[in-house]
Amino acid sequence: MATERTLAILKPDCVRKELIGTVLARIQDAGFAVRALKMITLSKREAEGFYAVHEDKPFFDELTDFMSSGPCVPVVLEKENAIADFRTLIGATNPDEADEGTIRADFADSISTNIVHGSDSVGNGQKEASYFFAEHEIVANRAA
Ligand code: PPS
Repeated sequence: MATERTLAILKPDCVRKELIGTVLARIQDAGFAVRALKMITLSKREAEGFYAVHEDKPFFDELTDFMSSGPCVPVVLEKENAIADFRTLIGATNPDEADEGTIRADFADSISTNIVHGSDSVGNGQKEASYFFAEHEIVANRAA
């Protein structure tokens, strides 16, 4: 299987609940390598840019208000089959529908405050990573 990168965002609810370490540990324990990470507070305009694909959805304003409501933690992750495996790890968008043992089932309160984002394709993973990180900020795998 090919090594892929995905862009995760630990969302403002994750940060507010002091779950950054807990969620990152779950991610790393599942075999994902962290290649870039920062804490940032998105402006409303930056959140609208990131989620532009959803601009016609009825929840767009609520989503971008939430994503600009406080600090979040974008993370570039790498692993074989990272896109699909990460979405399995975090569970369904709506935590009421997320499988037991997934990150959203364990920590998310609602479909709008659902702890973590994950890219839905390799192409979008690259595009989303470049929204937050310059290429030189994404580290290559190095022997310890
Ligand atoms: S869709 O319509 O299937 O393309 O959307 P979906 O992939 O389910 O969700 C896209 C992102 O929008 C968030 N979302 C919502 N926010 C607020 N209110 C409602 N009702 C809502 N429904 C979906 C959802 O958390 C997704 O965020 P990301 O960051 O992509 O996980």
